[in-house]
Amino acid sequence: MSYYQGKRILITGAGSGIGALLAEQLGRQGAEVIVTGRRRAPIESVARRVLAAGGQAHARLLDVSVLEEIDPFRRQLHADIGTIDILINNAGVVFGGPFDEVPLADHLNTLQVNTLGLMAMAHAFMGDLRAASQGHLVNIASASAYIGLPFGSTYAASKWAVLGFSESLRLELKERRINNVAVTTVCPGYISTGMFEGARTPLLSPMLTPERVVRSILRGIRQRRPLVVEPPMVRGIDLLKGALPGPVWDTLAKRSGIASSMKYWQGKQ
Ligand SMILES: NC(=O)c1ccc[n+]([C@@H]2O[C@H](COP(=O)([O-])OP(=O)(O)OC[C@H]3O[C@@H](n4cnc5c(N)ncnc54)[C@H](OP(=O)(O)O)[C@@H]3O)[C@@H](O)[C@H]2O)c1
Repeated sequence: MSYYQGKRILITGAGSGIGALLAEQLGRQGAEVIVTGRRRAPIESVARRVLAAGGQAHARLLDVSVLEEIDPFRRQLHADIGTIDILINNAGVVFGGPFDEVPLADHLNTLQVNTLGLMAMAHAFMGDLRAASQGHLVNIASASAYIGLPFGSTYAASKWAVLGFSESLRLELKERRINNVAVTTVCPGYISTGMFEGARTPLLSPMLTPERVVRSILRGIRQRRPLVVEPPMVRGIDLLKGALPGPVWDTLAKRSGIASSMKYWQGKQ
């Protein structure tokens, strides 16, 4: 029997990309998926695909940036469907460009969606996860939680915060002996979903396929791993950054393309 059989799983930002593919794969593996997003048409289309493949799915509108709507959303979900076992905080936005040329509203929105929305969701649903026999909080961060992202500085900041939050909460739950709730942080490099259209991949960090990333995430959840890093060498870069003198790291970041990869970002057209 699949690990996911009979588990109720809520995914944020599931109308496209990684979230949509996770919903489809989880539906195929016997989970009951709650496909959420801020626009109705994409989430309903994903839910229909899950149902057509023989799975169970519900589409629910949820804009995670509207923090005060998260608690009422949870109460309605409990009334309509019930509690969840797994929360996948996947919703995310990015606005690339020179820091002072990107409108402040876009920088603030990045933190609102990627960081504050994610924390508010974790806070709202922690009771559900604690009540589940195998509760799980999955936070989608990014490789840029480890490595600075010039021309995407507030995106990196939002994801560094997610990594710090996730890792702290994971250790706190252990310390409090809340052993039935696992926390997994996912840190992928560039993925070909369109979110980073135009960005140039740095040396040794190929463009990942959504299929590869979703496979790793599903394995990571099954194995209740604290971290899923794709490609795994991202962690090596982090170690290198810590070990090298600052100017040597700066040269390496420039020569490897890390420093300029977001210069050509266009995002979803
Ligand atoms: N693609 C990459 O290279 C990459 C690399 C590392 C990490 N990630 C992370 O992976 C996650 C999924 O990204 P993706 O690559 O699959 O891109 P994506 O297709 O753009 O997925 C992001 C999803 O989040 C939704 N969303 C945005 N703002 C929202 C809000 N306020 N409330 C609810 N949903 C919202 C988007 O909905 P709309 O369509 O309505 O905007 C979209 O469906 C994100 O957290 C991203 O930061 C991506």
